[in-house]
Amino acid sequence: MQNNRLDTADLPAHIGIIMDGNGRWAKQRGLPRKYGHREGAKTFRRIVEHCERIGLRYLTVYAFSTENWKRPKDEVDSIMSLLEQYIDEAFARQKEDQDIRTCFIGDMSALSPILQQKIQRIEALGKDRTGLTVNVALNYGGRDELAHAMRAIAGQVQQGKLDPSDIDEQLISAHLYTGGQPDPDLIIRPSGEERLSNFLIWQAAYSEFVFMDVLWPDFTPEDLDRAIEIYRGRSRRFGGV
Ligand code: IPE
Ligand code: IPE
Ligand code: MG
Repeated sequence: MQNNRLDTADLPAHIGIIMDGNGRWAKQRGLPRKYGHREGAKTFRRIVEHCERIGLRYLTVYAFSTENWKRPKDEVDSIMSLLEQYIDEAFARQKEDQDIRTCFIGDMSALSPILQQKIQRIEALGKDRTGLTVNVALNYGGRDELAHAMRAIAGQVQQGKLDPSDIDEQLISAHLYTGGQPDPDLIIRPSGEERLSNFLIWQAAYSEFVFMDVLWPDFTPEDLDRAIEIYRGRSRRFGGV
């Protein structure tokens, strides 16, 4: 198997992936964009399995941004329906024996009631699991996440439960959707784009970035292993020497 070649020592604790390039993958084949999303969803399943196999603790994937609502309605609808399918299948598998905790990060209030229900159900199923945590960033924006955290903190100050001097980096981190989880060590963006596009902007303060030329539907477990190898070759100094 692929992971025979991957040394699982000093694995990053948390990997973030910006699953980009579905549209271009479809375009190259003269297909509508939704076919790219369908292939991208298959890649996502394979990568989750691989992460479980190598013993990763946290995986966060960017599935739909707060900005992606600008896309044509039929494209948005097809992405949402692929997510519903993913949750149904993942629920069935996780109900058996998979030690995976699936969480959704983002503003769920804008999603359809049925999707919100499915999300609550799968989150409840995995809440006590200790294996791989998979965060699916859905209607997620890093700026929106910070605004959400700031509103919550301001509310506590207003109620007299917090003093403004209590607001420090730890408190802000704890109020993000990823509260309690380690920051991503490694962020991978396939598709050739080299930007964050509003992904984990606070949490990425000291992440290592690996940009890859492959489109997401073509991204393989070997590509993930390669990104981890590149990460291992980096020297992380966190401001020190
Ligand atoms: C990523 O692929 C999936 C989402 C943003 C939902 P894109 O749809 O952005 O693919 P490209 O960038 O147009 O190729
Ligand atoms: C980022 O990709 C969002 C997701 C992958 C879900 P986009 O394709 O939306 O980002 P931009 O528009 O190229 O920055
Ligand atoms: Mg894109």
